[in-house]
Amino acid sequence: MVSTVPPNVEISSRHYLEPPGQSEAVSPNQLLLPLTATVNDQDHLEVGGCDVPLLLERFGSPLYILDAESLRVACQQYRDSFQRYYPGESLVIYASKAWNTLAVCALVAREGLGIDVVSAGELYTAQIAGIPADITYFHGNNKSREELEMAVATGCRVVVDNWLELKTLANLADGADPTPILLRVTPGIECHTHEYIRTGHIDSKFGFDPDQLEAVFEFVSQHPSLNCLGVHAHIGSQIFELNPHADLGGVMANWLAMAQGHGLTLSELDVGGGLGIRYTESDDPPSIDTWAKTVCEAVLMACQQRNLPLPKLICEPGRSLIGTACITAYTIGSQKTVPGIRSYAAVDGGMSDNPRPITYQSIYRVLLANRMSAPLSETVTLAGKHCESGDILINNAQLPELVPGDVVAIPGTGAYNYSMASNYNRVPRPAAVLAHQGEAELIIRRETLQDLLRQDCLPESLNG
Ligand code: LLP
Repeated sequence: MVSTVPPNVEISSRHYLEPPGQSEAVSPNQLLLPLTATVNDQDHLEVGGCDVPLLLERFGSPLYILDAESLRVACQQYRDSFQRYYPGESLVIYASKAWNTLAVCALVAREGLGIDVVSAGELYTAQIAGIPADITYFHGNNKSREELEMAVATGCRVVVDNWLELKTLANLADGADPTPILLRVTPGIECHTHEYIRTGHIDSKFGFDPDQLEAVFEFVSQHPSLNCLGVHAHIGSQIFELNPHADLGGVMANWLAMAQGHGLTLSELDVGGGLGIRYTESDDPPSIDTWAKTVCEAVLMACQQRNLPLPKLICEPGRSLIGTACITAYTIGSQKTVPGIRSYAAVDGGMSDNPRPITYQSIYRVLLANRMSAPLSETVTLAGKHCESGDILINNAQLPELVPGDVVAIPGTGAYNYSMASNYNRVPRPAAVLAHQGEAELIIRRETLQDLLRQDCLPESLNG
C-alpha cells in the first residue's frame, strides 16, 4: 500500500510532530507520536525528554521507547471521563494483552486502573506487580483447569466464556466462598475492523451465544458457589465508529433485565475495549473523552429506560492506552535498489518485534530520528532482517536519503508489538525503556544469545 505523504522535498520527519488540528484537547490516541515527542537542537527526535539516537547508543538497537507521560495521560483521561459522564461507580481496567510486563502493570495500577488478563502468565505478572485481585479480571475462551484453579486461589474475577468453564468453576468453589464471575456474551454487533480482531459478531469463538443466556442465568442462580456479578462484551479492536458502542449499552442492559427474571441482580457491566489509535494521517479516531461519553450515556439511558439500578460500569481499553505511547527505534543497515521497481532499506529488527504488518497488513509511518529536518526525498521500502520475503515493515515509506547507521523510529508500537513478539530466526527480543523527563529506565532487558538457549535441552544421546 502506498503512503499518503507525497514525495515533497519541503516535508521532513518533523511534520509528524504536528497535531491533527482539532480544537478540543487531543487524546494520545489521536496523535502519531507520543505527547512528549519533540526535536532537539541536534535535530534528533526526543521522547520523554530523551534523545532517541543516544538511547540506542546506551541501550542498543532496536529499542522500544515507552513515554510514561503519554500512558499516564491516557489512563487519566479514561478515568476522569468515566467519572464525569457516569453518575454511578466506574472502573477502567487495562487490557494487558496489549503489553503485559511488570513495569506497565505497575504504572497503570498507580493511575488507579484495574487489569484484564487472559492467561496464567498475564495473571502472574499482574499479581507480582501488586495489582489487587478484586480489580483483576481473567478473560479467555479456553482457560485450562489449572488457570481456573489459579484464578479461584487468587480471588480475581473470572469472565466466564462458555459452559465448560461455568461447570468447572461451579465445582471448584463452594457456597461459603463463592467465585466472583462475569459472563461474556456475544452481542451480535458488527463493526468495521480487520476480520481477525472483530469479536462482537455472532460467529465468534468468544462468549455465550445470546440465545443461551436464559439457561446460563438459570444455571448460575442455582449454584451458590458462583457469585455472578455481571456481564461482559467486547466488540472488536481498532474501532473508530461510535455507533457500535452506543448500541452495546441497550443490548447489555437487556441482559441485566433478563438476569432479574432469574432473581439475579447484576452489579457490574463491562463494555470491553476497542477504541482505535492513529497509525497514519488518514486514521481519525475519536478522543478518549468522546468515546467515554458515548459509552456512559448509552448505558445510563438504557438502564433508566428499563428502570435498572446503575451497575458499576467497566471498560477495558488496551491499544488506546498504550499504543501511541511507544516508538520502536531501529538502525539502518543494508540497502538495495531494484532499478525501476523499488528501493529497500533494511533495519535490525522486523516481524519478530512488530508482527502486525505481516499479520494484519497494518500500515505504519517512519521518521528519520537522527536528521529530523532532512527532506523526505526518497521512497523506500523498509524491510526487516528476517528470512522471509514478507518481512516488510513499511511499503513505500517517505524518507530522506539513508546511510547505514541512521536511526529510524516507527511510532504507534506500544500495543500488540512486544506482546506478540517472537524469536523467529533466533533473533533476541529487543530491550524496552521507560522515558520520563529526560531519564530512561530499563523495563525489559534485551535478550542475550544465552537467553535463546534457556529452554533447549540436549539429550544425553546427542551429547558428545
Ligand atoms: N477486552 C477484550 C476481551 C479483548 O479481547 C480485547 C482485545 C480488549 C479488551 C482490548 O482491545 P483494545 O482496546 O486493545 O482494542 N493483536 C491485534 C489486536 C487483538 C485484540 C484482542 N482483544 C492487533 O495487533 O491489532
